[in-house]
Amino acid sequence: MSHDVIAIDGPSASGKSTVARKVAERLGRVYVDSGALYRSIAWKAMSTGCEAGNPAGIVAALGVMNVECVVVNRAVRYRVDGYEPAAEIRTEQVSGYVSAVAAVPEVRAAVTKWLRGMTKFGPLVMEGRDIGTVVFPDARAKFYLDASPEERARRRSVELAAPGGQADVTRVMSALADRDRRDRGRKTAPLAVAGDARVIDTTGLGIDQVVEAILYRVSEVTACL
Ligand code: CDP
Repeated sequence: MSHDVIAIDGPSASGKSTVARKVAERLGRVYVDSGALYRSIAWKAMSTGCEAGNPAGIVAALGVMNVECVVVNRAVRYRVDGYEPAAEIRTEQVSGYVSAVAAVPEVRAAVTKWLRGMTKFGPLVMEGRDIGTVVFPDARAKFYLDASPEERARRRSVELAAPGGQADVTRVMSALADRDRRDRGRKTAPLAVAGDARVIDTTGLGIDQVVEAILYRVSEVTACL
């Protein structure tokens, strides 16, 4: 039997988080943001002064971290050494650092184990980069969301903009492109489309259209079980 997981993968700012959260709500499943776990580890390693180019230091920092995964309001949250970082994991610094941390095989092995263990929380909607390819290759339904680089940069700029302000779209686009290149190019579990994933280009679509497309596909798959 396949794991009762809906896997939603894709590059940065492709709309995964908003869509995955809504799909989980609609289906009464637990929502898992695997990127937030990588970001939490990266934030902690960074705050201990570890350089991105020092994988041995990152592994050592992970070795002394106490990471807890807890469910609050049907979403998994992460505590590192008893503290739950929130805005801290979304800074430009962490976004620039996290893909180096996520490329370290020992980090991926630890995170993959934690993510697999989350099936104990019940049926899941999990978003990330390698959920359908590596973490749950037997997931019940798999999706790969994408959008044009311009549209992704526009969305991320809106998220990053301070109230009343505007983030620099060109700079955001270049930061996203760098991170995507690192995520696609790494040796262990690179960002890739699973052979059996449904690819959705969200460029011209609203959130609800994407959510409905996913729910429709899930109902098709479930009817075949
Ligand atoms: O929010 P955004 O889509 O930009 O990224 P995220 O989902 O928060 O993920 C942050 C980073 O974590 C990614 O750029 C990857 O380097 C890493 N990641 C990963 O390697 N594998 C996953 N399953 C999820 C995230």
